This record gives sequence, structure tokens and C-alpha cells, in this order.
Amino acid sequence: MVKKAVLPVAGFGSRMLPASKSIPKEMLPIVDRPAIEYVVKEAVRAGITEIILVSHSAKTAIEDYFDTQFELEQQLADKGKDKLLAEVRDILPEGVSVISVRQHRALGLGHAVACAAPVVGDDPFAVLLPDVLVDCEGLDEDLGTMVSNYQASGAAQIMVEEVPAERVDQYGIVALKAEVPASGDSAPMSAVVEKPAIDQAPSRLSVVGRYVLPGEIMGILAQTPPGAGGEIQLTDAIATLLERAPVEAYAMRGRTFDCGNKAGYLQAIFHYAARHPELGEQVRAMMAAEM
Ligand code: G1P
Repeated sequence: MVKKAVLPVAGFGSRMLPASKSIPKEMLPIVDRPAIEYVVKEAVRAGITEIILVSHSAKTAIEDYFDTQFELEQQLADKGKDKLLAEVRDILPEGVSVISVRQHRALGLGHAVACAAPVVGDDPFAVLLPDVLVDCEGLDEDLGTMVSNYQASGAAQIMVEEVPAERVDQYGIVALKAEVPASGDSAPMSAVVEKPAIDQAPSRLSVVGRYVLPGEIMGILAQTPPGAGGEIQLTDAIATLLERAPVEAYAMRGRTFDCGNKAGYLQAIFHYAARHPELGEQVRAMMAAEM
């Protein structure tokens, strides 16, 4: 069973400066809650019960957010603010724990994931990159399907979506053994390469930031030398895994928002604000008035 998820949150978020100077970028709000809560909730809905943050000393606000704030809860209870109290308590649903490990040096995404090895052990696990929000409203959730696929077939699942040719050099890009799967389906991969030059990309299918991987990848990461950008790349470890075990590309159904840059972050705010259960109507009217 896939019960663990690794969330690498140690990065400084330079693309979100100055907002991210003294607040972790993952704590910047999307409407009324920090972006990281959306990602943790997505993991929990997929059946994850152990969230492993790979963090940094400057980013303890993230751990604090998922901790109990006893005095605050007491005060809300005393004042009869039951709805707010329930919302605060629901930040981390019952039965889910958050564990934090440190990434002492910024050596890349593969290195960050490897920092969680002592907690992951040999178990399969999900990786969620917290810059990317995935909205599957009204559809079966992508991460949940990836977990079910892994559990049924034992093949690692790498979520992909097509990007325009001029952007392939910004992502991990996969090659498939045969046809591109329909949305919500997986297909065997033959290769994956990190940020290829535009004329060398094997396809336009980009790695989105959701993975379900066997524990075996940890041993591979420990042996993976620095790759693109001089960093230890998760993509390179997946390429090695491919030589030994089945790895599938999962074609996502939902929609992604890259909150690691200002335009993507704003788009996520518009999107989630417009369909917020309490604020949505007001927000849509505000947006119409601003146009
Ligand atoms: C990372 C991964 C890359 C993936 C991307 C998705 O890159 O290394 O393979 O496509 O996330 O957002 P980064 O955006 O950290 O440079």
C-alpha cells in the first residue's frame, strides 16, 4: 500500500521574491489557506497517511502550520467559533502525520527526495512537488488513480501532460514505448530526460510533479551523479529504474497551476477564488467589474 508521500519544500523560491523572502513560498495563500495545504490534502485524498516534508531551517513555518495550536483552538472553542475551529482542526485530518527531515544542502530534487530515505525505507511512496497544484474538480483524482495503478501493476507512475515545443527545456520529458495514453490512463515509458534542448526532446510529454515510486529508487538516488544544472536529478534516477523495473507515464485528467512563478500563482488564486464555496459569487462579480 502507498501510504507515504515526500514533499520537497527546502527550496528558497527565488521566483516568488520578494514575497517569499521571510515566508516560505509554500505558505503564500491561495485565497484563504497556504498553497501547501492544497498539496497535503491532495495526498490525503489519495490515501496517504504519512507526509514527509524535506525542509530547511528557514521554513519551519510549514511544520508549524500542520502542528496543533492549542491556545488558538482553546480560544476559538471558548468564543463558540465552532466553524473556524473545525476548519483549523481539519488542516491535518485525523490519522495523518507530518514528519520533517532536513535537506542540508541544495543539491537538487533527487537529493531532496533521497533525504527522506530513512523515513521511507523500502516502502513505495508518492512524490508531490508543492509548486504544482493539481485540480481535478468533478473528475476522479489523478494521484488517487496513480496510487491504484501502482498497487495493481507494481509499475512506477509518472504524471505527464503535453507542453508546447518551446517549453520542453523546462521539464523532465518522457519517451513512450508506444502510443500516448488517453487522459486517466498509463502507458509504458522507454526513456526520460531532464530539461532536454528543444531539438533533442523525445516528445512533448512533460513530467508534471506527481510520482508514485518504489522504495528501490532510494538506492538508485544514492548512486546518481549530478546531471542537468549540476544537480542530482530525480529524472536521472527514474531513467535508471527504467532499466530494471516497469515505469509508466500517467496522462493526467486534471488541470495544473505552477505556483512557483508569479503568473501561475495568480492564475491559481483566480481559479480557486472563483469557485470558493463562500466567496466565489462575490469574487466572480469583482473579476467581471475589473475587466
Ligand atoms: C522539476 C523536475 C522536472 C519536472 C518539474 C515539474 O523541475 O526536475 O523533471 O518536469 O519539476 O514542475 P524544476 O521545476 O524543479 O526545475
